[in-house]
Amino acid sequence: MTKGKVDALLGIVFGDEGKGKVVDWFTPRYDIVARFAGGPNAGHTIIFGGKKFVLRSIPSGIFDEGKLNIIGNGCVIAPDLFMAEAQELEAAGYTLSDRLIISRRVHLILPTHRLLDRAYEAAKGKDAVGTTGKGIGPTYSDKAARTGLRVGDILHDFKTKYSRLKARHEQILADLGFTDYDLAEEEARWLEGIEYMRRFRLADTETTINQALDAGKNVLAEGAQGSLLDIDHGTYPFVSSSSTTIGGVCTGLGVAPQRIGRVFGIFKAYSTRVGAGPFPVELFDATGDRLRDIGHEYGAVTGRNRRCGWLDLVALKYAIMINGVTDLVMMKSDVLDTFDTIRVCTAYRKDGQETQTMPYDTTGWEAVYEDVPGWQTPLSELRSETNFPAAFRRYIDYISQATETPISIVSVSPDREATIILNPSLKA
Ligand code: GDP
Ligand code: IMO
Ligand code: MG
Repeated sequence: MTKGKVDALLGIVFGDEGKGKVVDWFTPRYDIVARFAGGPNAGHTIIFGGKKFVLRSIPSGIFDEGKLNIIGNGCVIAPDLFMAEAQELEAAGYTLSDRLIISRRVHLILPTHRLLDRAYEAAKGKDAVGTTGKGIGPTYSDKAARTGLRVGDILHDFKTKYSRLKARHEQILADLGFTDYDLAEEEARWLEGIEYMRRFRLADTETTINQALDAGKNVLAEGAQGSLLDIDHGTYPFVSSSSTTIGGVCTGLGVAPQRIGRVFGIFKAYSTRVGAGPFPVELFDATGDRLRDIGHEYGAVTGRNRRCGWLDLVALKYAIMINGVTDLVMMKSDVLDTFDTIRVCTAYRKDGQETQTMPYDTTGWEAVYEDVPGWQTPLSELRSETNFPAAFRRYIDYISQATETPISIVSVSPDREATIILNPSLKA
C-alpha cells in the first residue's frame, strides 16, 4: 500500500496570513488535520455560510465532521480557554470528543504562566515583545527547563504536581515584585477545564499519526504563527517561543522528514505584523492606514492594530529557503484592489549597503522598493483565474519569478469559496 504523506501549511511571515481559512478549505482532501506548534496565541478565522469562527487551539479541520483532528505534542494548551473554545463549537452543533485527539505530551499553560508572561513583559519595559499574554513563553520555558506539566500528568496525582509548579511560579512572581493578583476565579475555571479535557482522547498521537500514514492516510499539518516568529529563525527576541517552521512539523508531531510531502507557504499580498520588533516594510503613513482599514488588520486574539506595509520579498525568500516551500498561497489579494501602484520590497538598505538575504538583525534596515501597476478592479467575486485582470496576473507572475516558487492558490475574500487554484496538480 502507498504510504500517506504529511503536507504542511505554514505561515511564512509574521502570522495571521489566513491559515485557518485555507486549512478549512483544504480539509476535504485530507484524513487528519494536526496542529504541531503554538497554543491560544493563535487566532485562526474561518468564515462559511455567513458564520465566523476563530479557533485558537483546535485545528481548523474541525468543521468537516468526517475528519480527525489532532493537537500534537509540540503545542501548548490552556485548559480553560480550550474548554471555552470547544463549548462554543459544541453549542454551534459540532460534536468534538470523538474527532479530536490531544497528545499527552502537550504542555499545560497554567494560570501562573499567564501571570509570568505579564510580569516578564512589564519587567522588559520599552523592550517588551508585545506578547499575546497567553503564557506561551513561560510555558515553553518550563518545557525546556524540564519543569513543565503535560496533559498526561492530569491522569495521575495531578493536584500535587500542579501545586508544586504553582508554588514555584509564585516564588518567581514575588521575586519580581509582581504580587498584585487574585487567581481564585481563574484557577477554578482552569481546574474545571482540566476535568473537561478528560472526555477527549488523550493519546500518544505520534503513534496515531504514523499508523495512519502507514495505512495510506494523508495528514495536513496546520501551522501557527509565522516563520519570522519562529524561536530560531524569526526576528529574535521579538518572536514566539515555538518552532513554527518545517522542522517544527517533524518534532511537533513526531513524524520523520521523509514523511513530509508538499509544503504550502502562505502569505498576504502585502505585509502585517502584530506586537513589537523590527519590520523594515512598515508604513507609518496614510497608505499603511489604508491597508489596515481595507484589510481589517486588527488582531483576532487581542484586537490590537496590526502594523502594515508592502510585500517583503527578502522575508519571503528567506522563509521559502528555511521551509523548502513547494507552493505559495497568496491571501487577501482583494485588499490591493484600489491601489494604482503597488510596491514590493526587493532588498534592504543600511549605511549604503544593500542586501537581498535576511540579515542577522533587521533593525535599522530600510526597504528598497520596486513599483508594479495595480489592477484597480474588484477581485472578491472571482472564482476562477480566467477572469483575472492582466495586472493581477502580472503581480502573481512577478512574485513567482522573484521567489522561484509557484503561487498555487490565491484568495480573494474571507469566504471559504473565494479560494482559487492556479496549479493544475491541485485541481481534484
Ligand atoms: P491566521 O491566523 O493565519 O489563520 O489568520 P487570521 O484569521 O488571524 O487573519 C486572517 C484574516 O483575513 C481573517 O480575518 C480572515 O477572515 C481574513 N481573510 C482571509 N483570506 C482573505 C482574503 O482573501 N481577503 C480578505 N479580504 N480577507 C481574508
Ligand atoms: P496566528 O497563528 C500573529 C506574536 C505576538 C508577539 C509575539 C510573541 O494567528 O498567525 P506570544 O504570545 O506568542 O509569546 O507573542 O508573537 N504572535 C502572533 N502574531 N499571529 C499569531 O498567530 C501570533 N502568535 C503570536 O503578537 O509579537
Ligand atoms: Mg491569526
